[in-house]
Amino acid sequence: MAGLVIGCLAVQLSLASLLLCSSASTAQHTLGTGSSLSVEDRSRPFLVSPDGTFSCGFIQAGDDGDNAFSFSVWFTAARDGAVVWTANPDAPVNGRGSTISFRHDGELALADTNGTTVWASRTGGGGRGLTVSLRDTGNLVIEDPSTGRAVWQSFDRPTDTLLPSQRFTKDTKLVAGYFSLYYDNDNVLRMLYDGPEIASIYWPLPGVSIFDFGRTNYNSSRIAILDDAGVFRSSDRLQAQASDMGVGVKRRLTIEQDGNLRIYSLNASTGGWAVTWAALSQPCQAHGLCGKNGLCVYLPSLRCSCPPGYEMIDRRDWRKGCQPMFSVGNCSQPAAPERFKSVVVPQTDFYGYDLMFNGSSITFELCRNQCLSDCQCVAFSYRFDGVGRCFTKGRLFNGYTSANFPGNIYLKVPIDFDESSPLVSARSAAGLTCNPNVSIVTVPAAVYGMAPRNSGKWTYLFVFAGVLGVLDLLFIATGWWFLSSKQSIPSSLEAGYRRVMTSQFRRFTYRELKDATANFKEELGRGGSGVVYRGVLDGGKVVAVKRLAVDVTMQGDEEFWAEMTVLGRINHMNLVRIWGFCSERKHKLLVYEYVENQSLDRHLFDTAEGGGGGGGISTTTLAWKDRYKIALGTARGLAYLHHECLEWVIHCDMKPENILLTRDFDAKIADFGLAKLSKRDGGAGMELTHMRGTSGYMAPEWALNVPINAKVDVYSFGIVLLEIVVGSRVADQRTEAGERLQLPQIAQALRHVLDSGDVRSLVDARLQGQFNPRQAMEMVRISLACMEDRNSRPTMDDIAKALTAFDDEDEHPAYRS
Ligand SMILES: *[C@@H]1O[C@H](CO)[C@@H](O)[C@H](O)[C@H]1NC(C)=O
Ligand SMILES: *[C@@H]1O[C@H](CO)[C@@H](O)[C@H](O)[C@H]1NC(C)=O
Ligand SMILES: *[C@@H]1O[C@H](CO)[C@@H](O)[C@H](O)[C@H]1NC(C)=O
Ligand SMILES: *[C@@H]1O[C@H](CO)[C@@H](O)[C@H](O)[C@H]1NC(C)=O
Ligand SMILES: *[C@@H]1O[C@H](CO)[C@@H](O)[C@H](O)[C@H]1NC(C)=O
Ligand SMILES: *[C@@H]1O[C@H](CO)[C@@H](O)[C@H](O)[C@H]1NC(C)=O
Repeated sequence: MAGLVIGCLAVQLSLASLLLCSSASTAQHTLGTGSSLSVEDRSRPFLVSPDGTFSCGFIQAGDDGDNAFSFSVWFTAARDGAVVWTANPDAPVNGRGSTISFRHDGELALADTNGTTVWASRTGGGGRGLTVSLRDTGNLVIEDPSTGRAVWQSFDRPTDTLLPSQRFTKDTKLVAGYFSLYYDNDNVLRMLYDGPEIASIYWPLPGVSIFDFGRTNYNSSRIAILDDAGVFRSSDRLQAQASDMGVGVKRRLTIEQDGNLRIYSLNASTGGWAVTWAALSQPCQAHGLCGKNGLCVYLPSLRCSCPPGYEMIDRRDWRKGCQPMFSVGNCSQPAAPERFKSVVVPQTDFYGYDLMFNGSSITFELCRNQCLSDCQCVAFSYRFDGVGRCFTKGRLFNGYTSANFPGNIYLKVPIDFDESSPLVSARSAAGLTCNPNVSIVTVPAAVYGMAPRNSGKWTYLFVFAGVLGVLDLLFIATGWWFLSSKQSIPSSLEAGYRRVMTSQFRRFTYRELKDATANFKEELGRGGSGVVYRGVLDGGKVVAVKRLAVDVTMQGDEEFWAEMTVLGRINHMNLVRIWGFCSERKHKLLVYEYVENQSLDRHLFDTAEGGGGGGGISTTTLAWKDRYKIALGTARGLAYLHHECLEWVIHCDMKPENILLTRDFDAKIADFGLAKLSKRDGGAGMELTHMRGTSGYMAPEWALNVPINAKVDVYSFGIVLLEIVVGSRVADQRTEAGERLQLPQIAQALRHVLDSGDVRSLVDARLQGQFNPRQAMEMVRISLACMEDRNSRPTMDDIAKALTAFDDEDEHPAYRS
């Protein structure tokens, strides 16, 4: 039984004992007509191959909440699953009432709950006496046992994986998303990107003769096979060898969501997979990954970015690419080269779509003029390698940046375009914009000659990687269920995202959350964006459920869902994790990780200052070591939001109330991303974000009518940092005359501390000198820098680095007197 099998794997028994496990079950390797398996009995495989290597049956295509299943063949021993074939990759069936049956007419058929046949083998009659069996090769075969003739086999209809001894022919295709491996009409085995806007072949590398790769187009037999020794041979003379060549290893050849084709070898003792060959040595060689106008860069995982002046079209999907935030004119207007200039993007190229390539050597100026005065030209590439080569581009696709690329791309932009401060798009006006570098695809490090990452790092990458990255990694991690979304994008892709998301992040029903919180009984806290309740989910997991206040619930379901998928992917140890959400008409709720030790304000400020929170105020003073840890953690969390996460998220409401503490006093920032939920309907964005700020922590530029950027958080952080040192609210500091201190006065005081070195006068007296003066000085220095004019403020990255540099200090060296 599958349950048993998993139990065996957990203690890493060998394949032999695995066999014992599976033979203890009722699993069979051949069935006659009339057999069936319902999805409720999915713990039992439908069939197991005689040597136990492969199993087939129902496998989940999502998590419990999603209720989607497929009928698939998978490697029994692979720890991460590893589906090699799926009957219904695009049409998952319901977890209740679906069945796979080998009908009396010899048809293997998959029926959904309501009886609809979503897939059938189309055996073509012949009916009685047929058997279905799963072979040791992984081939699912329907045959006539009297003649031994196979009437149908899964090997003829691969999804994205080719197994040893499975023939790849002119009639087969391996498909993953927009990518496919196929035999072209010229007899050459190629990989194609076939996207919504363009289609282009990227392997073997275009622009280079196939003969240079040792391939030929003269053999028309068009057949390829991966043999048991790990050699993949094609009739076009391609010969690829797994790095662990030799018999006895279980392998598969798979095309993946990042457009690469890889041989994987199974590690029998761990059940893990290792990449032992890959078709593309440079992951950016796959076309279409970053969409039109997008740039692909590998450092050391694959990232997409938009060129200067361009913004991402769909934040959920890099494959949609980038769009210019300006107009470069069009051909219905007279050419006006004086209205344009060029901006360089170094070591970058966009493959294809040349308007013109002038074979003779040409100067840069001439090339530039040609582009600026050509209404169709959007950019030009100029390379100088003895002769000056000029390529003017009509469209920008397949862009990549590489240190090895010997040329630059020059984008045509309006004359008033200011490249030092990239345009702020309408979308970013409320404090959001795209991160220029977003990781989208993570490829196994081994392929590119790097040390394999440890599993912790994998997990890290797993959550950090963007959309495609998540797909890709899940694909590697759980192997099977995301395979072959085929080309029926976008609906299946959307379903795919939802599935992917749900594995760590899910959509709850209002009913579920009502039950989990015992009808919103225990209130944990309340703030501008809503009230937070304690809840316990079905599995016993304690969560915090936030009911969003009305002003953030005006959005449509789809928009809300889109925002949530972005937030749901954000994962950092210093950010409160979002487990899911509920969006049912007016009910908009978020489900957060429960952080046990309340917020920083309750530990930092005197009881009297605890404010409306009520109760549970700690009596002991927060120790210096914990204060520093909280400062550092908060800086790292914000740096992650600003610089690293999938999108550039600005918090807009940094204050001690939004810094939650774990039992060990690790900081976790709460309420990030909410500015985003409320920024809809155009101009209202600013007002709403205004409403989110809290007086005393808001940067001066909020009062000016300027687009807000991440530096507002830097300012607020500076205030919080100072409060951590001082132990009271900055806004409550008074002059001797009893007036509130203004920003210039605070800055002056801090400068004085820095100049005199007398930090002790500033540090919370309740610490009784138990603090580290070097750390305190650094905090004061940073705090002051954060209060500068916004262009002079450091970035959160700078701050996290600076604080980290002082992290190893003793807790409080001799400084008492
Ligand atoms: C059965 O369910 C599927 C999926 O929910 C649906 O697409 C199909 O239309 C249904 N068929 C019938 C006959 O109700
Ligand atoms: C064509 O390829 C097949 C399969 O690799 C091979 O058996 C055959 O000898 C080749 N034919 C020629 C003429 O090279
Ligand atoms: C299998 O994995 C283990 C643990 O990572 C490793 O020590 C061993 O060398 C691997 N075996 C093969 C054949 O790669
Ligand atoms: C070209 O520019 C003119 C004038 O700005 C505008 O009316 C027209 O819609 C543009 N055409 C295209 C195809 O963008
Ligand atoms: C290439 O550019 C040079 C210099 O502008 C020009 O003289 C020549 O005619 C061009 N050649 C072609 C093929 O356009
Ligand atoms: C983005 O990537 C480039 C390298 O291509 C790097 O120089 C730059 O610092 C990165 N920017 C950010 C914000 O990470």
